[in-house]
Amino acid sequence: MKDATPQAIYLSDYTPPAWLIDDVHLTFRLSPTATRVLSRITFRPNPETTDRRFLLHGENLKLISARIDGTEVSPEVTDEGLTCDTPQKAFVWEAEVEISPETNTALEGLYMSNGMYCTQCEAQGFRKITYYPDRPDVMATFTVRIEGSAKETPILLSNGNPVGLGDDWAEWHDPWPKPAYLFALVAGDLIKHPGSFTTMSGKEVELNIWVRPGDENKCAFGMDALKRSMKWDEDVYGREYDLDIFNIVAVDDFNMGAMENKGLNIFNSSAVLASPETSTDANFERIEAIIAHEYFHNWTGNRITCRDWFQLCLKEGLTVFRDQQFTGDMRSHAVKRISDVLSLRARQFREDNGPLSHPVRPESFVEINNFYTATVYEKGAEVIRMLKTLVGDDAYSKALDLYFERHDGDAATIEDWLKVFEDTTGRDLNQFKRWYSQSGTPRLSVNTHFSDGTYRLDFKQETQPTPGQETKLPQVIPIAVGLLSPNGDEVVPTTVLEMTESEQSFSFDGLASEPIPSILREFSAPVILTRQSTNVERAFLLAHDTDPFNKWESGRALAKDILAQMITKGTSPSGDYLDALAAVLRDDTLDPAFRALAMSLPGQDDLAQTLFEAGATPDPTKIYRAHQTLKQSIAQHLQDTWPRVIAEMDVPGPYSPDAEAAGKRALQGIALAYLTRIDAGAAAARQYEQADNMTQQLGALGALLSIEKGATELSAFREQWKDDRLVMDKWFGLQVSHAAPENAASIARTLTEDPAFDWKNPNRFRAVIGALSMNPAGFHDPTGASYALVADWLIRLDPINPQTTARMTTAFETWRRYDVDRQDLIREELRRIARSDGLSRDTGEMVGRILGE
Ligand code: ARG
Ligand code: ZN
Repeated sequence: MKDATPQAIYLSDYTPPAWLIDDVHLTFRLSPTATRVLSRITFRPNPETTDRRFLLHGENLKLISARIDGTEVSPEVTDEGLTCDTPQKAFVWEAEVEISPETNTALEGLYMSNGMYCTQCEAQGFRKITYYPDRPDVMATFTVRIEGSAKETPILLSNGNPVGLGDDWAEWHDPWPKPAYLFALVAGDLIKHPGSFTTMSGKEVELNIWVRPGDENKCAFGMDALKRSMKWDEDVYGREYDLDIFNIVAVDDFNMGAMENKGLNIFNSSAVLASPETSTDANFERIEAIIAHEYFHNWTGNRITCRDWFQLCLKEGLTVFRDQQFTGDMRSHAVKRISDVLSLRARQFREDNGPLSHPVRPESFVEINNFYTATVYEKGAEVIRMLKTLVGDDAYSKALDLYFERHDGDAATIEDWLKVFEDTTGRDLNQFKRWYSQSGTPRLSVNTHFSDGTYRLDFKQETQPTPGQETKLPQVIPIAVGLLSPNGDEVVPTTVLEMTESEQSFSFDGLASEPIPSILREFSAPVILTRQSTNVERAFLLAHDTDPFNKWESGRALAKDILAQMITKGTSPSGDYLDALAAVLRDDTLDPAFRALAMSLPGQDDLAQTLFEAGATPDPTKIYRAHQTLKQSIAQHLQDTWPRVIAEMDVPGPYSPDAEAAGKRALQGIALAYLTRIDAGAAAARQYEQADNMTQQLGALGALLSIEKGATELSAFREQWKDDRLVMDKWFGLQVSHAAPENAASIARTLTEDPAFDWKNPNRFRAVIGALSMNPAGFHDPTGASYALVADWLIRLDPINPQTTARMTTAFETWRRYDVDRQDLIREELRRIARSDGLSRDTGEMVGRILGE
């Protein structure tokens, strides 16, 4: 039924909507396979256009009846929507449609998860609920009546405030005009974890986290995170909550992390449910960040939304930036920055340096769901961070105040966003805007010169051409630099250099001796910095840099260099490197969380990308072996230190997920993993027995699995947690992520045959298939067994859930890095996916872009 060659949509084709809406009344008569949706919508002509065509989006809807101003009409219906003759002035549209939530496995629109009705409308899911102009620049107030059953669906929720409640019905009204993608409905047998918050102007807001019975003991942390987010947005951005009630619902079957529907956030249960016994420290931190992220969308996303989906980064980049600031404030700015850069490089640089590279604001798409990417989100946040660095904190605050004041209630654009910065600072941001339009990661190289007390940095920037963007113009790059003297003193404190040319030099004079430069402090721009540097200098910066990011970065560069030598020349790790690591590990003045990051080796995928950029063809098996060898050397070199670190990092008393305790456990976990390589798992087995929290239990199990032990613990773990879906996801995932390369495919295949492998649940599917694609040497197994397994499962999932399938095709996005044999194998699998019957538009677009065919 789908069009064979789906049409791309272009930013340059934007036209304003012909009809606007003031308010919408919806009535839902819930039934698993035959829900009736009645709509009453007042349309009025948009004075900004003369276009009067009437087109409503609609997909998979059974139209029962339609009326205009009370008179029955017979619209012309297609797969994508309907059209109909209308009056040329305001009129009332009424329609009744039937939908089937129970058979909606795509998890988009209204669907069912474990007997609970729920919705996901962003980006274009509302059109699967009723006929509507499903575009973000059409904003309306909504009144929603839900008719359910007192027994099956005692709890009935929608956006806004409750205005009426019966045994088997409820009515909600949302006074804030919103686009349809922010619509939400939930109905089911739910239990609430209640709370409340008093806003800065003294308004009392009712808060609830709604869960299935049995999960009510996993809500306290999320509730606390929500209150802290509300307070933080008042303190830092002056943003107050604007309804009487704020609801969060946990849903097991969900394609993404969470969704910011107005007043009714819907969460993947993995992104909200937490308890010490079932969640790791990393889970707690992620939950805190996602709760904050969705809450912050209330202003950056909902009150000010996007004009069209090309502007997605307007809300996502900004909201990610805000949640990063929040986590920094709650925990540690240095540690947060390092973790963010790690994930930026692992996901966004990977994307931007392969066939899926696209600008932060894309200019065309076939399926918008394919553009919820690391580039739009994470690079989008980096762009805002650079803007703040360039204009300074005060101007940033002023610009944001103006943004909220000027655009409240608007569906805005990137141009609007930049304009508030231009108006508050008087700067011309035309060149800066290239960060939104040019794809690719800029390469920044630097040479240094010293003479007569003057130190000069010569920078050069270059961005690889990408299809459709053959020549790239220079971008504005804020380069934060500090200079250290050879004895370790900071002779020039952090200064932000503003690079605007392709080649540009900056000088510092009055220096007594040649300094050691610390360049791109705090990772002030999302670029790849190349500089001829020695390992002596890197070790010096690792020991002395006052900028925690660059201190960590120097250790990282050192480790990468050593691994690259091991891989390409077969050398052994140098004693100097091992001593430098030892110094960091034993430095008690350093935050344990920082030390944990400094002790973690660069990942295998990161090494593959680095080698590829240096002109080599990475061999995943060799990379894996070098990794193993280096880990073994580190384990042995520091063998006396591990037990001491493990003991010192023990946190007494009951478990608390706070940053300090989590940091200690992180370092302890690393020490345990190293110790496991020399004590044959004795300490890990002990920790497994004694653990009273998931961080230590899972850490111990992972350590055992990496030395191919832990069979007993693995079955005990399953027995203990068989009834907990989220913990069972960990059980599945850990076995695949810790599998040795030659076993990964067969372990994953066996797990897919397990009765508990509920593959239609996205979390479970990702736990196995996603984990396999992220086990680098296992995925790139030279026989191609993993490629084939992943492709088989993507082909199977696509007709059920196109969105999750399409997203997971990115497993193959790096194929051009590898040798001809692997390239052939991957291309064959991609073509096999492309050929499958009735392939979705989502997956079709992704596979086509990855293949470049
Ligand atoms: N807006 C949501 C968030 O950032 C994510 C929605 C993802 N939607 C999608 N179609 N992939 O929290
Ligand atoms: Zn978001």
